[in-house]
Amino acid sequence: MARITASVYTSHVPAIGAAIDLGKTQEDYWKPLFAGYDFSKQWMKDNKPDVIFLVYNDHATAFSLDLIPTFAIGTAAEYQPADEGWGPRPVPKVIGHPELASHIAQSVIQQDFDLTIVNKMEVDHGLTVPLSLMCGQPEAWPCPVIPFAVNVVQYPVPSGQRCYNLGKAIRKAVESFDQDLNVQIWGTGGMSHQLQGARAGLINRDWDNAWLDQLINDPEAAAATPHIDYVREAGSEGIELVMWLIARGAMADVAGGPAPKLAHRFYHVPASNTAVGHVILENS
Ligand code: DHB
Ligand code: FE
Repeated sequence: MARITASVYTSHVPAIGAAIDLGKTQEDYWKPLFAGYDFSKQWMKDNKPDVIFLVYNDHATAFSLDLIPTFAIGTAAEYQPADEGWGPRPVPKVIGHPELASHIAQSVIQQDFDLTIVNKMEVDHGLTVPLSLMCGQPEAWPCPVIPFAVNVVQYPVPSGQRCYNLGKAIRKAVESFDQDLNVQIWGTGGMSHQLQGARAGLINRDWDNAWLDQLINDPEAAAATPHIDYVREAGSEGIELVMWLIARGAMADVAGGPAPKLAHRFYHVPASNTAVGHVILENS
């Protein structure tokens, strides 16, 4: 049986990818941010998964206003890093896991969640920046990755509650796969940030940290946060946080198991326009 052994939560920001790719991580501006991921890079080496199920959002890169899937699962054998305007990031291509991804699609759709199946797409900073933060600059990513894209760009977006419930369905799907695989689930994006309009630059430290407390200790309460609260309190792009609830809903305690172990928690302001949050939870 495959098992979800841990969940990882981290913000993504294109400028973080650029800082890594251009060798700027030790500059004064970036050093404190990357220091928060030193633990995580070692943890990834010590806790290498067989597969990462990576929940992220596409930023009008693979999808556009032409086609807006709420939830899209990547079933392809591989995914190339996208050109978001400055050429593709110089990072390894992403190797998929079509067998597990197809099984999860089958199981989750039969549990009444409508997933879009994606056999071909490129992946943007939403997926590659979390991989870079957690894995550094390897020749190849440490394991296959199943990309799972959530629409948090064009309204209507899914509620946090629906994302949390989807996480529960993903856990069941993983546990009904008949190969022994160690699977991590990552929830990415957030925390507070707003990139446009009168409130551009908004950061809300208190709200972010209270939400992190809930995510870790009272995920039902975090899941009940209405979408308008994210926008009011954490800015228009703060809504990316609902993706973290997919990962949290897949943890063992949500299905009646023991509480997860908090392996790491980090918060840093700012990276570009964004408050960066990062958590690692381990199932026992
Ligand atoms: C920034 C943050 C994002 O989440 C994003 O998708 C693009 C830019 C930023 O802070 O610059
Ligand atoms: Fe984003």
